[in-house]
Amino acid sequence: MITSVNFELNGRRVQVQADAQMPLLWALRERLQLLGTKPGCLQGVCGACTVHLDGAPARACQLPLSAVAGRSVTTIEGLPEPMRQRLLTAWTEHQALQCGYCQPGQAMTAAALLGHAKAPTPEAVATALAGHLCRCGSGPRVVSAVHSALAAGTGTAS
Ligand code: FES
Ligand code: FES
Repeated sequence: MITSVNFELNGRRVQVQADAQMPLLWALRERLQLLGTKPGCLQGVCGACTVHLDGAPARACQLPLSAVAGRSVTTIEGLPEPMRQRLLTAWTEHQALQCGYCQPGQAMTAAALLGHAKAPTPEAVATALAGHLCRCGSGPRVVSAVHSALAAGTGTAS
C-alpha cells in the first residue's frame, strides 16, 4: 500500500511516498537519489547497505520504509565532521580503499564504533567488521584503519 513516511535523513526532515514495505535501501537510492548506500546481497549478510538508524548501524536492505517513520537515518553522505575526516585519514594511511564498493557500509559501522563514549575493544572492532564482505580483500586493512582512528582521538558518529 502506498503511504507517506516522514523521517529525519542526514539532519533534515524528509517525506517519501512509497509502498510501506519498500526497503529503505531503495527509498534512499531511487526516491532520494542518495547513491552512497550500496546494494549487495539484499539479504542482510554483506553489509554494503549499512546506514545508521538512531545512531546504530542498520542494514538498509532489511528495513521496510515503515520501520524508519519518525526516526533518524544517517547515510555515508551525511556523516558529520570530524568523523568523516577522521575515517578518511585512517583509510588513506592504511590504503584500505580498493574498488570502494563495500566501503560506505564499512565506514558507517566504523563510525558507530568510534562514536561510542567508551572505546571498543579490538575484539569488538573485529567482530563488527567481520560482518562486512569485501571482494577485494581489504578487510584486514579496514580493521587496521579503525584501530588507527581509535588511537587518533574521539569523535561523534551521527
Ligand atoms: S545489501 Fe544489505 S546486507 Fe547486503
Ligand atoms: S573494496 Fe572492493 S569490495 Fe571491498
